[in-house]
Amino acid sequence: MSDASLHGLDAFAALIRVALAEALGVEVNTIQLERPKNEEHGEFALPCFRFANSVGNNPAQLASALADSLDVNNVSASAVGPFLNFQIDRTALARKVLGDAGAPGYGRADDNELSIIEYSSPNIAKPMHVGHLRSTVIGAAMARLFDHLGHEVVRINHLGDWGSQFGKLLAAWKRWGKEVELETDPIGHLLKIYVEYHNQEECDPSLDAEAKASFLALESGENNEERRLWVRFTELSLAEFQKIYDRLGASFDLLRGESWYEDKLDAMVEWLERKGVVEDSDGAQIVDLTSEGIKTPCLIKTSHGTTLYATRDLAAAKSRWDEFHFARCLYFVGSEQKLHFDQFKAALKRCGTDWWDKLEHVPFGLVRFPEGKLSTRAGRVLRLSEVLDRAVELAREIVEEKNPDHPDKDTVAEQVGVGAVIFHDLSHARNKEVVFDWKEVLSFEGDTGPSVQYTHARCCSILRRAARAAPNPNEVDSALLADAPELWIAIGRFPGSVREAAEKREPMILAHQLLRIASAGNVFYREKRVLGTGNEKLEGARLAAVDALRRTLSLGLGLLGVPAPTEM
Ligand code: ARG
Repeated sequence: MSDASLHGLDAFAALIRVALAEALGVEVNTIQLERPKNEEHGEFALPCFRFANSVGNNPAQLASALADSLDVNNVSASAVGPFLNFQIDRTALARKVLGDAGAPGYGRADDNELSIIEYSSPNIAKPMHVGHLRSTVIGAAMARLFDHLGHEVVRINHLGDWGSQFGKLLAAWKRWGKEVELETDPIGHLLKIYVEYHNQEECDPSLDAEAKASFLALESGENNEERRLWVRFTELSLAEFQKIYDRLGASFDLLRGESWYEDKLDAMVEWLERKGVVEDSDGAQIVDLTSEGIKTPCLIKTSHGTTLYATRDLAAAKSRWDEFHFARCLYFVGSEQKLHFDQFKAALKRCGTDWWDKLEHVPFGLVRFPEGKLSTRAGRVLRLSEVLDRAVELAREIVEEKNPDHPDKDTVAEQVGVGAVIFHDLSHARNKEVVFDWKEVLSFEGDTGPSVQYTHARCCSILRRAARAAPNPNEVDSALLADAPELWIAIGRFPGSVREAAEKREPMILAHQLLRIASAGNVFYREKRVLGTGNEKLEGARLAAVDALRRTLSLGLGLLGVPAPTEM
């Protein structure tokens, strides 16, 4: 992207970096600007240690020499010890950020790469539980961020709809399945009989044989009873999942469960064999990975000849590569599956592919509820739908209390409740465990989704109450907005945080920036009178500022998948 089209503070950073590179005689990309520890020192800082030696100066001397000589439009430089700090002229800052944020497409870029984002990927016949919340919410946010940066994004849902566990489920259905119960609560009933299977399997060895026979019948590809049942279970499960996706605002370009690769599995195994990496191990087929530093081999086929989770992931990766030639294929899957991803990637490396390292497992930590650890086998699962319902119920109580006259409490309670759960998830470091505390999640104050939504709604309310529409940024005298640098800096860092969040696969970076923007926005409209100043020009400028704030919050929340109600 050309510098002229850089948005917000990124545009100033680019000018500073070019000037520095020239002064120091180095490449622009070796210049990394930081944020000064003390905000009063400016918006950017260059620690001079790295460059001092080559210029034959000590860092403090270099910083002060550069401060004297550097000439960057609308930016002043000053030295504090070994640091060279930069401050943007307040009027120029307000003008640039207001202009960018006050127009659609703030922070957009034109990266123009193809990125596959695989996320959610729940298992059919089981409820989507809170473990799938993180994959769904983080993956969907990441897909929107990449899209905003100009990538062609292919969203894939790799449903767990294949494998020997479906043999068990079919065997369980034949023993304990009840049509009426399946109709009323499909996933609940399928889970119940699956749990029953596991309870009985030890004392009843014939179950295992029935499960194996059922899976074989399913795998035969014939249109038999097993296949018809499996199709039905899949459809019923998908209908349940869709309700959750609608609530979470998650969508997919391709619904390709593991079964989609069924007819590609033989070819995959043959391909691996041709590459000479497959070995026999007690009748099973494996790819040894010791050369790649991984002790446990990648299992391709069991001794019964059935394929495995890894076989299907290998086939999926290769089929995606053949179809898309992606720049990256990201898998948003919990950290507990790290070994699995390491294994099948290492197997592809051993095959000599030049794309294995474009596959990237993006792990995340668990969500913990006061209810404790979850296990599907034991049947103690906390369903995602229950979590969302509870959040909405609590949000409804808050709305009822804060705004009893709200014209559409149901809609806003859904937006605030679900939004709070999403924001809470995304405002935590991806790889850490998230502990769920209902009070904290839904609070209207503090670092929460509802607090950002609330600031957005306040902006909307100010704009509604104004006697006229906010003027266009280019009709505004930016000098009138130069007294709110904190607001412009916060909004001005938005594009940089979108980019950083995408690069680090860390939506938290954007969530935290939105919290900073919201808090600067609160200070702005609390301290500066917007309506009724008696000064038409000043009112126009401040209305334009509120509008830019509203747009940025709405855009940012939208990228994270959090709704932005206009009244709360
Ligand atoms: N269905 C799996 C689960 O719920 C997640 C699938 C992850 N994706 C993959 N390509 N293996 O645990």
